[in-house]
Amino acid sequence: MAFTGKAKVAGVMGWPIAHSKSPQLHGYWLKQYGIDGAYVPFAVHPDRVEQAIRALPALGLRGANVTVPFKEKALAIAEIVTPTARRIGAANTLTVLEDGRIHADNTDAFGFTQNLAAGAPDWQAAAAPAVVIGAGGAARSVLVALRDAGVPVIRLINRTTERAAALADELGPGIEVVNWSERSQALAGAGLLVNTTTLGMAGHPPLELALEVLPTTALVTDIVYTPLETPLLAGARARGLAVVDGLGMLLHQGRPGFARWFGVEPEVTPALRARLLGGS
Ligand code: ATR
Repeated sequence: MAFTGKAKVAGVMGWPIAHSKSPQLHGYWLKQYGIDGAYVPFAVHPDRVEQAIRALPALGLRGANVTVPFKEKALAIAEIVTPTARRIGAANTLTVLEDGRIHADNTDAFGFTQNLAAGAPDWQAAAAPAVVIGAGGAARSVLVALRDAGVPVIRLINRTTERAAALADELGPGIEVVNWSERSQALAGAGLLVNTTTLGMAGHPPLELALEVLPTTALVTDIVYTPLETPLLAGARARGLAVVDGLGMLLHQGRPGFARWFGVEPEVTPALRARLLGGS
């Protein structure tokens, strides 16, 4: 890799950061579009996150993604915050403006919506209720995305019901909290089922859910993408339901940042997916 002195530089801050797929994602696009630029992983200690974010303009960086556990802190530090990031309560994409101010956005909701649009173009948001499992940070982005897409009712289910109730209070109306023990029955009549928990991820237990009452027209998606086909998606596929895996959400959430930092609207292609999955 050879850069000139004019190279545009961005990166991703997290702790830990070694697992992040963002350098591969943006690195692929930089090469694909022949851009004189770099995207670097930054292992930022939590004690230093404010220093690191404030250093972006001083270093002449175009911006950065921020990941766990810095998303809320990034929102608090930024001078300009998009309404979406404000509603989600977290930022994942920081851009240094020409005047040196830091602009914070959250592109996870966009990534979720775009992934569904690409993987299940026939899915109709307004047609039926959606069921969302989980009430952590990922659930917040999914709820904002579904509300904006026009889903009429969202049934929100979390092991710790209080967390779901707090989210429904904050992001409702239209979000109904259902108890964890009633999660299988809550699938009746739903048009979409989303897992936003870590259940089903490699090294974690699967999500125990009886899919029998889910209508055969429903779409099932998981934000977990390691493995790409989680036990939930495998079960849904076995029943003949449409499924969308979680990798696309990661790929699509990267698009707005790349466009702002490097000036090219990047595309999510099968070749990109294959690369991120370790193929050619
Ligand atoms: P993130 O911000 O990435 O979404 P998080 O805030 O830790 O992560 O949320 C993880 C989600 O997975 C939560 O909804 C959590 O449920 P609780 O709020 O009850 O903790 C859910 N989760 C994790 N392990 C779980 C398990 N073994 N059974 C049920 N839900 C689980």
